[in-house]
Amino acid sequence: MMSSCRVCGSSAMVPVLSLGEQPLANHLLTAPDLSDEEDLYPLDLLYCESCTLVQLGASVPPSDLFDEYAYFSSQSQTMIRSGQTLAERLTRDPSVEDWFVVEVASNDGYLLQQYRSNGIAVLGVDPAANVVQVARERGVPTLCEYFSEDIGRRIATDYRPANIIHANNVIAHVPDPVDLLKGIGALLREDGLAVIEFPWVARLIDRTAFDTIYHEHLFYYSLTSFQNAVRAAGLYCTDVEEIDLHGGSLRVFLRRQQEEEVPNLRRVLEYERERGLTSLSGYQLLQQKVHSSIELLENEIDSIVGDGGTVAGYGAAAKATVLLNAAPRAADAVTFVVDSTPYKQGRFLPGVRIPIYPPEHLMMAMPTHTLILAWNFADEIMSKESEYIERGGRFFVPLPEPQYVTRGESR
Ligand code: TYD
Ligand code: ZN
Repeated sequence: MMSSCRVCGSSAMVPVLSLGEQPLANHLLTAPDLSDEEDLYPLDLLYCESCTLVQLGASVPPSDLFDEYAYFSSQSQTMIRSGQTLAERLTRDPSVEDWFVVEVASNDGYLLQQYRSNGIAVLGVDPAANVVQVARERGVPTLCEYFSEDIGRRIATDYRPANIIHANNVIAHVPDPVDLLKGIGALLREDGLAVIEFPWVARLIDRTAFDTIYHEHLFYYSLTSFQNAVRAAGLYCTDVEEIDLHGGSLRVFLRRQQEEEVPNLRRVLEYERERGLTSLSGYQLLQQKVHSSIELLENEIDSIVGDGGTVAGYGAAAKATVLLNAAPRAADAVTFVVDSTPYKQGRFLPGVRIPIYPPEHLMMAMPTHTLILAWNFADEIMSKESEYIERGGRFFVPLPEPQYVTRGESR
């Protein structure tokens, strides 16, 4: 068990949820792996009473987690479109042709590609060799490194300071977020803008989305706790907006200088205080709500199977591993999972060892019911699989309770 907060160092850490011992959610198994036993690690959430940050207890060495990464951002049109819109918005500036844009945890380069196609100089940084290779192949220059204060300084010297720095879905994953933020500060031009996105803990609580809790995901930020980390790195939050990615995320804008306070920031901070997310009270019911969500899901699946139905899963996401390992009766009924990522096909979900097939398999097997495990992409998935629905197949999402969905009404 962790004894002190990774951001503020306080030892006033209170347990708020335990999911027991779990395998690493992104460590998909190959067929030969099935003869070996898997390593399990405790999965527990703690609340820091000093800086209000929610974080995991014990951690797994990062080299076990990110050397090869099964997640390819451009598997999702939703992600690509979100990146496009953002890049278009940020590049409405006459001097844009001379800009230098850097992305931390640039994955397969889908976001930087948007800038590059407008002739803007870009550089990605990502520690996972396999996604870096894909990015380079599509023409996005990428350093294969963990971003840090040192790397930020080095890029500023070897290249030049950046006009824009993106960091999407990484600040929750690194063991030392203050060091990463200091690196952003070191690399950012005096007048530069950093844009940071992360899943918002408020939406985790709303949806009882405990399946977004896994070992790679160390931190569950509110704006309040994120701002504390930002201040510790000598930067300032200047604006915020909520975006509809990963079940509800915040996109926070940072600068090197403080600006006049924007109403958006104050509004979100106040909302968090009212919701109890800046004290222990907002998290106290989580364990109980998780238990009842699991039970409702297992009961629903039991009743499908009891009626002679069959169940498949859609999306071999990390959250699929977490959900199914926490709901063994559901996992027993799910005979296979489909996923569009070639890397994942032919592998098995960790722990529960459910096989992963390409999406075409769904129409071949025609299960009566399909649980959308990647529920954050439910609309996109259902529009691809309209034929399955026309032939009588039914989609449902798991949390906070099982809900049947048809196109356009999943949120
Ligand atoms: P992701 O959202 O990355 O979740 P996590 O962070 O929990 O891993 O996972 C989405 C998964 O769903 C990814 O493996 C790709 C898959 N997917 C499909 O198979 N088809 C689709 O149409 C979409 C949008 C995603
Ligand atoms: Zn703290």
